[in-house]
Amino acid sequence: MTVSAVCPGSFDPITLGHIDIIERAASRFDSVTVAVLSNPSKQALFTVEERMELIAETCAHLDNVTVDQFTGLLVNFCHDRDIRVICKGLRAVSDFEYELQMAQMNQRMGDVETMFLTTSPEYGYLSSSLVKEVARFGGPLTGTVPERVERELRERYG
Ligand code: PNS
Repeated sequence: MTVSAVCPGSFDPITLGHIDIIERAASRFDSVTVAVLSNPSKQALFTVEERMELIAETCAHLDNVTVDQFTGLLVNFCHDRDIRVICKGLRAVSDFEYELQMAQMNQRMGDVETMFLTTSPEYGYLSSSLVKEVARFGGPLTGTVPERVERELRERYG
């Protein structure tokens, strides 16, 4: 039996914290799909295609990881691909309440279980939003995003 998992998110853009979770998921599941939420009502810095390309490049060392996109409910995406596990990182207690609600709703709606990996301590403070804010004001990004992502951020924020 092969067990597949999905790592869903906005990934605007992918950070080293995301990559840490994807790597750890890839070492425990037979295959992992990184699923980028395409949400036209949310203003993003990178297009879905750009985000997917950055994920594909920065996860190229992981043979069992593929990148895809979805709109609407994550459970529908999972059903269409026979994926029964959502794998997510938990950074802090502040993440927990909303994540718990989503996990319970996804379990109820779609019989899809959510498994949480605790974020590695060095990435506990990291989020795509904070990275963008630091980049916007020209702050240091070392240790937060892959070099390629840093270059893209610098280009966008001049
Ligand atoms: O990186 P993010 O923005 O924290 O990721 C959130 C994401 C995309 C995982 C979550 O918002 C999601 O799954 N959205 C799709 C719609 C859905 O299924 N919502 C949950 C219903 S309980």
